[in-house]
Amino acid sequence: MDGTAALRELGTIASGAPTTEPSVDWATDSDDAEVRQLLRENPMSGNIQLSLEREPRAAIAARVEGHPHRSVVWRAGGRVVGVGTRAVMDVFVDGQPQRVGYLSQLRIHRDFRGRLRPILAGYRLLLSARSRDEEAYDLTSILEDNLAARRLLEAQLPGLPRYRPLGRFSTLVLSTHRYSRRRRSNGVPVVTAEDEHLHEIAQCLDRNNRRFQFARQSDREGLLSSEHSPGLAATDFRMAVRAGRVVGCLALWDQTAFKQTVVRGYSRGLAFWRPAINGVARVLCTPRLPAPDEALPHAFLSHVAVDGDDPDVFLALVDAALLTARQRRHLYVVAGFAETHPLRVTATAFGHREVWSRLYAVHWPGEEGALAELARLVPHPEVARL
Ligand SMILES: CC(C)(COP(=O)(O)OP(=O)(O)OC[C@H]1O[C@@H](n2cnc3c(N)ncnc32)[C@H](O)[C@@H]1OP(=O)(O)O)[C@@H](O)C(=O)NCCC(=O)NCCS
Repeated sequence: MDGTAALRELGTIASGAPTTEPSVDWATDSDDAEVRQLLRENPMSGNIQLSLEREPRAAIAARVEGHPHRSVVWRAGGRVVGVGTRAVMDVFVDGQPQRVGYLSQLRIHRDFRGRLRPILAGYRLLLSARSRDEEAYDLTSILEDNLAARRLLEAQLPGLPRYRPLGRFSTLVLSTHRYSRRRRSNGVPVVTAEDEHLHEIAQCLDRNNRRFQFARQSDREGLLSSEHSPGLAATDFRMAVRAGRVVGCLALWDQTAFKQTVVRGYSRGLAFWRPAINGVARVLCTPRLPAPDEALPHAFLSHVAVDGDDPDVFLALVDAALLTARQRRHLYVVAGFAETHPLRVTATAFGHREVWSRLYAVHWPGEEGALAELARLVPHPEVARL
């Protein structure tokens, strides 16, 4: 069916928007192909228009994000024309294990935008999934220059939940260009983990993640679970060792087999300057801006934990990870830190580009009490599981 025929079938009138009002319902397994198509074809707006894709099956990435993982879909004319997702994460809040929902993948087909009523219905349904053992708010993030989404979601419109800002979040794209040897040998020994080290790595993650809001809980089994951590092996972990003790760790996690980031376009200004920016990037060893429709060949820097946030330990770990990434032919390594996280500045010592988002606690009016203490600690959601 070509585009025109599809729109006719959806009830499009000759001169304008479709007449059918989308209805909202829980997604089922049979919606998978249409949901993935929506993710591909409806990038987030901004200077760099990014689509976060979930090929070949959205369910693989869903298990990485949280459990339960539920999506609502908007349907019109028998087709899926919108999606929104909520995954429940096992994290630390104020140093204690808690369950917190994470909202993501809100996408509405461009022919069905500009209608508030279905969006309100979608939020009501999606947030009704929150159970009693979960916090009374969810976490989410919006790209800072996605003004279309922020205009709607920050407006405190009646019937929509409140988006309480929790600060800025940086997605750092580090370049592995010319990384053919370790650069920062600052005396901190970094070694590749083996199965026998996983228990100690989980302990390092646990004691450090308690110091941050929304950092994930870890146990030895969960680290390499084929369900929750597909594609991750013990040998993807690097650990810094001092006096026989693991004092820092991270992992290089290639998720491109089930989760892709694709640049779908640029703002007019950035498209114009892209060749020049890429020329400079080559010299400075910073990441180049890929051609539209190109997937970023990257791996995540996940499971970052450093005792005392020691910059030397972190530099040595990232250095080792970049070298491995280069050997594995990842052009980029992606890390994520809140603006106030002590390790963010340390990570910028490497050739990088920084993409800013905003974090929010999403709650219904009257539930503000649950947020009172959140600002006490720095947020550290795991970028590889968002
Ligand atoms: C972000 C997205 C879901 C928003 O949906 P949308 O239908 O485009 O939302 P709109 O901005 O049109 O808002 C819907 C209606 O709400 C009302 N509204 C939105 N913002 C408002 C504000 N600040 N004040 C008053 N009313 C407002 C308006 O009635 C608006 O319709 P109108 O603009 O035709 O008058 C959609 O644009 C999309 O899928 N974008 C691509 C992917 C994306 O960026 N996802 C978000 C990731 S966080």
